[in-house]
Amino acid sequence: MLLIDTLSNKKSSSVPFWFMRQAGRYLPEYKAVRAGFPNFLKFCYTPEAACEVTLQPIARFDMSAAIIFSDILVIPDALGAEVSFQENIGPVLTPVVNKNAFEKLSIKNLEEKLSPVYKAITLTRTDLAKDKALIGFCGSPWTLACYMLQGKSSRDFAGARAFALKEKENFSGLMSLLIEAVIEHSCLQIAAGANVIQLFDSWSGVLSENEFESYVIAPTQKIVSAIKAKYPNIPVIGFPRMCGAKLARYAQVTDVNAVSFDGSVSLDYAVSTVQKNVVLQGNLDSQILAEDGELALLQTKQLLTRFAGTPFIFNLAHGILPHTPIANVQAVSDMIKNHA
Ligand code: CP3
Repeated sequence: MLLIDTLSNKKSSSVPFWFMRQAGRYLPEYKAVRAGFPNFLKFCYTPEAACEVTLQPIARFDMSAAIIFSDILVIPDALGAEVSFQENIGPVLTPVVNKNAFEKLSIKNLEEKLSPVYKAITLTRTDLAKDKALIGFCGSPWTLACYMLQGKSSRDFAGARAFALKEKENFSGLMSLLIEAVIEHSCLQIAAGANVIQLFDSWSGVLSENEFESYVIAPTQKIVSAIKAKYPNIPVIGFPRMCGAKLARYAQVTDVNAVSFDGSVSLDYAVSTVQKNVVLQGNLDSQILAEDGELALLQTKQLLTRFAGTPFIFNLAHGILPHTPIANVQAVSDMIKNHA
C-alpha cells in the first residue's frame, strides 16, 4: 500500500493522496444515500450505507486511501452524551456542565454501541482494492471535550476552556475517560481492518501554549503509546488543526508517524522544522479548491515540486467544502496521479 509505505518513510515514485471529508455533500451519489437517512448518526451506524459512501470517492478519483465514513462524535454518543445533528445548526449534545452530568457518562457500552462502525470497516476492507489503505479515525480528547462541554459548535470554545480552567477535577476526569475511549475505539477499528488511524484535534488552535501541552500533547502521547503497544505496525497520523508553530513540538514528542498540517504554518516552516521528525500530510486550502480550480492546480504543482523525492502525503488543509466543484477535485487528483 502506497500510503503505508510512505508512512514507513519509504521513497516511492508516486505520491499517495486522499482528502479529508472525501465522502460528503459535494458528491451527488453521497447526497442520494444521505437522503434516505434523516438522522445522521443512524446513517453512520448503518454498515452497508457507511461502506457504500466510503467507497464512492475512490471509484471516481482513485485516491490511495479510503477513510471510513463515520464521525468524531460517535465517541461522545457511545459514552451517553445524547448527540444529535440538526440541520443548519450542526451537532447538539447535552453539555457536561457538572459532576452529576459527568457521572452519567460510561465507557462500558462503547464496543457494543460502536459495533456498526467496526462492521462497516470490515465490509469496506473486504471491498476496497488491496493496494489502498483504509483509514480509521477518532476525535482527540480535547476536541471531543469541546463539543461535550459546550454542547454545540463554537468559534472559540471559550465555554469549554473556561470549564477546564475552573472545574479542574471534573475536566481532568472527563479527559481521562476520553483518552481511554479514544484508545479503545482506535484499537477496535484496527482489529476490524483499519490500516492507519488519524487523530483529529480540530480545536487545538484555540489553546494557549500551556493548555496545548496538557490537553493536546500529553493525551496524544498516551494514546499513541497505547495503540503502538498493541499494534506496533499500525501508523498514526495526528492533526492538531490550526496550532501554528506548536506543531514542531507535537511532531517531536508524540510519536505519531505523520502530521497533517494546514495554513497556520508556512511551507518553509513545515519543511525545515517539522519534517525531520515525521512524514508531512497536507495542505491544499479547501476554499481555494472550491473557488478557483486553476489556482488549486498551481498550488498542487507547487506542493508536489516542493516535496519531490521525500515521503509526503497529499491532502487538504481541512475538509472538502460542500460547494466544491467535482471537476476541481478530479483535476487535482489527476495531476497528483500523473506526477512521477
Ligand atoms: O470523508 C471523511 O472525511 C470521513 C467522514 C468524516 C465525517 N466527519 C463525516 C461527516 C470525518 C473524518 C469527520 C470528522 C469530524 N466531524 C470532525 C473533524 C474534522 C474537522 O472537520 O475538523 C469534526 C469537528 C466533526 C464534527 C461534525 N460532524 C460537525 C461539526 C458536523 C456538522 C458540520 C457539517 O459539515 O455539516 C458534522 C457532520 C458531518 N460529518 C458531515 C459529514 C459528511 C455532514 C453531515 C451531512 O451529510 O449532512
